[in-house]
Amino acid sequence: MTSKGRDAGDTQDPLFCQEAEEVYRNPTELKMSQIVLPCHANHCGELSVGQLLKWMDSTACLSAERHAGCSCITASVDDIHFEHTIGVGKVVNIIAKVNRAFTSSMEVGILVNCEDLYTDRQWKVCHAFATFVARRTEAGKMEQMEYSLAAERRRMRLIHAETITDLLSSSTAQLGECQEYQDAVPAERTRVESVELVLPPHANHQVSTFGGQIMAWMENVATIAASRLCNAHSTLRSIDMFHFRGPSHIGDRLVLKAIVNNTFKHSMEVGVCVEAYQGGEPLRHINSAFMTFEVLGGDGKQCTLPRIRPEPVDGKRRYLEAVARKKIRLDRKYIISCHHTEVPVSVPWDPSNQIYLSCNNVSALKLMDTRNNWVLTFEKNKVRLYTLEENHVLCFKVEMHVSVPAEQTFHLLSDLRRRKEWDRHYEECEVITQVDEEDTLYRVAAPSVSKGGKGQDFILLASRRKPCDARDPYLIALRSVTLPTHLPTEDYTRGEVLCAGFTILEESSTVTKITYYNQATPGVLPYISTDIAGLSSSFSSTFSACSLFLEGNKDSLAALPPSAL
Ligand code: COA
Ligand code: ADP
Repeated sequence: MTSKGRDAGDTQDPLFCQEAEEVYRNPTELKMSQIVLPCHANHCGELSVGQLLKWMDSTACLSAERHAGCSCITASVDDIHFEHTIGVGKVVNIIAKVNRAFTSSMEVGILVNCEDLYTDRQWKVCHAFATFVARRTEAGKMEQMEYSLAAERRRMRLIHAETITDLLSSSTAQLGECQEYQDAVPAERTRVESVELVLPPHANHQVSTFGGQIMAWMENVATIAASRLCNAHSTLRSIDMFHFRGPSHIGDRLVLKAIVNNTFKHSMEVGVCVEAYQGGEPLRHINSAFMTFEVLGGDGKQCTLPRIRPEPVDGKRRYLEAVARKKIRLDRKYIISCHHTEVPVSVPWDPSNQIYLSCNNVSALKLMDTRNNWVLTFEKNKVRLYTLEENHVLCFKVEMHVSVPAEQTFHLLSDLRRRKEWDRHYEECEVITQVDEEDTLYRVAAPSVSKGGKGQDFILLASRRKPCDARDPYLIALRSVTLPTHLPTEDYTRGEVLCAGFTILEESSTVTKITYYNQATPGVLPYISTDIAGLSSSFSSTFSACSLFLEGNKDSLAALPPSAL
């Protein structure tokens, strides 16, 4: 693909890193280009999202099959946010590649760009991650970064249903009861039920229905339900993560049901449920999905939507569940987003977003670890200081080797309370909460940088991960969070850490490479800028002290795993 005339930055997606210089091309990478014809469009002349989902699913499925060497089925699709609609006459370019193979499943990254042939401009429409399941897989070569980030997303996918249940059981009181509004639209008015017969063109050679075809039918009924709410055309903005629960085949009758579950100021949630049957057999649940729609006025602005009056029992339950899903959707969009500079530095921590924050914490560190444009700024006593300046953000890393086994190094560095033994910036450190075996919340206090000034304190989430395989390092990721129980006090300036932490790589059974990363926020910058500028070498003395600390404790049983804290 050419970068000529491309909207710089817009088509770049850190979650789906393309090989900029075409140095290495993932052998599973496949591209599909389609001109949008009137037969693919809705009555507004925009590509129907259902058609787009079919194209995305087939490209991703072919990529998965290329890797697996056998036929694959769509198991699930993560949240998709559509950034633009696509008009008739434009070209849709879809790129799919396998990021990681697990045992029988694979994560496929899909990137959709829209191209205007007349102006040679391209812009990103959306990206997605789909999981395909094969009968037989073999681990192949995949880019290391996507490979390890895929593990983080997989954790989230598998825990998704549990997160919703937890949120609903813990916060029913906060969600409140459905209120009665005089002018509310009865949800019943938006109900759609439609049947489809699965014919050979809808299925693969093994007679299984294409996941993309089912998604297209789901989008169709959801759009009708959404448009019935205020008798106006609705635009699909996002689809939540969903899971194909069971297969469907040629000859199945698919019953698709949709209804508006809840409306918010400018958006509404439509739920769709798909069930299959053949002859007199009982219905099989194939899929349920939740989609967010908007209604745009003539001026292109979002219209304010009417309230909905849910049906008793199930309707009321779905109304409340839609509120919980809205929160999860926002958490995922803003916390998981890898556009870290756009995200507020400290985000509130609470048990319901814990899994996203933890994944985000680790992913951000992994992304920093894969950058290859670090500049060596200073070296002393075999401790190296590197910097990287990009998009007005300064990152630094400190690298050194120690003669301590990697696992012991990991345990010793994991307990932040012991950091004061080698880092004078860690004046005080207390555990606020041991969230689980991998995550801990700490309060850390650092001395003032200027004489007589206030010290700084930080509320940090530390997320630890053991390696997924021999190529992976141990990780200890740190980021700031806010907690209602630990608000800033008068005595300290509240400092923030956007992304920091250690990667610990086993080079041999006795030698370990330790890399410390930090994306310098204004609060952290004063501690390191004198070193970067060459005015001091405190990084070297701090990390030499770290090395002594590790070597002095290399046989210590006190380096217990964090779960034993
Ligand atoms: N998201 C992503 N992957 C998932 C998943 C989800 N929600 N649920 C299960 N998986 C993965 C598992 O991690 C496992 O992968 P691994 O072997 O790499 O560890 C794999 O699916 C099989 O897991 P298992 O627990 O044995 O299977 P299951 O009984 O949960 O079934 C499917 C999972 C996807 C195979 C099953 O639900 C299915 O057949 N769905 C229909 C798929 C289909 O026909 N799609 C086309 C459209 S109809
Ligand atoms: P849940 O009821 O827990 O949301 P389901 O899988 O039964 O889960 O349904 C998913 C969504 O499909 C529902 O939230 C609802 O929006 C829609 N739906 C389910 N059943 C019907 C129905 N009979 N008529 C219209 N829409 C339905």
